[in-house]
Amino acid sequence: MAMQQASTGIAERTLAIIEDLKGLEGPLLPILHGIQEEFGYVPQETLPVIADALNLSRAEVHGVVTFYHDYRSHPAGRHVLKLCQAEACQSTGSDATTARVKQLLGIDFHETTEDGSVTLEPVYCLGLCACAPSAMLDDEVIGRLDADKIDEIVAEVRA
Ligand code: FES
Repeated sequence: MAMQQASTGIAERTLAIIEDLKGLEGPLLPILHGIQEEFGYVPQETLPVIADALNLSRAEVHGVVTFYHDYRSHPAGRHVLKLCQAEACQSTGSDATTARVKQLLGIDFHETTEDGSVTLEPVYCLGLCACAPSAMLDDEVIGRLDADKIDEIVAEVRA
């Protein structure tokens, strides 16, 4: 029963977002964006509601959600750690720092640790190229990533 109420709440909030945005040209992406802002991710149960409202198939909506990695299909962890993968960071060793973070956390990009502490995501330039390789932990940008900083970040997200 509680589950059903939760789903109804999600459907209602989804419909309100759709109502606000469906007049836009190409409303699907703004609607998905609005839903992710509202819930922190795009819950599965919103897909049929969006499909019905926009006259699309569920497969089409699902395809768009999975194509754009910005949309999460599961709630994010308590922290979100973004590692820059763009050129300036690549040329200063982001491959190695990324591999170290993934190894220490035991997850790949777009995954969340089992304890729910952190979600790992790639990002493409944080405007911090002069201090590459760069990262962003929640709202805080971090430059000159090295092994020590990575250890600090991992300890912080696990605290
Ligand atoms: S390329 Fe990584 S911050 Fe610009």
